Amino acid sequence: MSGCKGIIVAKTIDEVRTKVAKWQAEGISVGLVPTMGFLHEGHGSLIRKAVEQNDEVIVSDFVNPTQFGPNEDLESYPRDFEADKNFCEKLGASLIFNPGPDEMYDRPRAYVNIEELSDGLCGARRPVHFRGVCTVVSKLFNITKANRAYFGEKDAQQLAIIRKMVKDLNFDIEIVGCPIVREEDGLAMSSRNTYLSAEERKAALCLSRAIKSGKENIKEGMSTKQLTSLMAEVIEAEPLAKIDYIEAVDGEMLQPIEKVQGRVLVAMAVYIGKTRLIDNFSWEGK
Ligand code: PAF
Repeated sequence: MSGCKGIIVAKTIDEVRTKVAKWQAEGISVGLVPTMGFLHEGHGSLIRKAVEQNDEVIVSDFVNPTQFGPNEDLESYPRDFEADKNFCEKLGASLIFNPGPDEMYDRPRAYVNIEELSDGLCGARRPVHFRGVCTVVSKLFNITKANRAYFGEKDAQQLAIIRKMVKDLNFDIEIVGCPIVREEDGLAMSSRNTYLSAEERKAALCLSRAIKSGKENIKEGMSTKQLTSLMAEVIEAEPLAKIDYIEAVDGEMLQPIEKVQGRVLVAMAVYIGKTRLIDNFSWEGK
């Protein structure tokens, strides 16, 4: 463990546990911000909120192999630990947990799977993804014993699944969802935006344009097919974009719905060239 001054860098589970035990003995509250690193202002908003609401904040910085499918971008996923460390330190986090894969996994045979909510949207296209997310997040909850954990609403399906996991498995932790952070021109912040060429970066704005159109047109009782078709038209006008899905589901169990009513999540994934980007908005009727 290093960090005589400034942020503590922990590479092992034991180092985190020792520090947390000391904090707990002093009655100190702990916030956890789980990340895969390559931090940007989206993560920044989670860290700031955690710093505001807790005495000490742990940021985990771990590219979790179990949530990547065989043909996904595990190897090329962007990494810059020094920049992440400085970013967390500047925002007032106390500890950055940066384990290697062997520290987190030793021939694992236990996984956490949340049924139904993981079946559609991104889960339908990325079969092992949410099982990997729920497993690593459960491990991080057990390692850090945090009082609160912070997740972005950009990963809306992930957030709904984690809330359900915490409820069903009685994790003693409060889940705090934080709003999507966008670039000035509207693109939702993501570590994967770094894959985009200059031309693709411009094309990627069709996602936030489609979200805007969805927000402007959504009405109680309208057909979800009509809504998602309007949004699809915006994406299809962009030659570099290819829709993976645009769907409206109920905001709790994430099941497809035919009409807009209650709490609705409208989510999409779109390829811009080879890069798959996601965006969404939520709507709630009176
Ligand atoms: O949202 C992410 O960055 C990851 O899915 C998470 C929650 C850190 C788990 O690896």
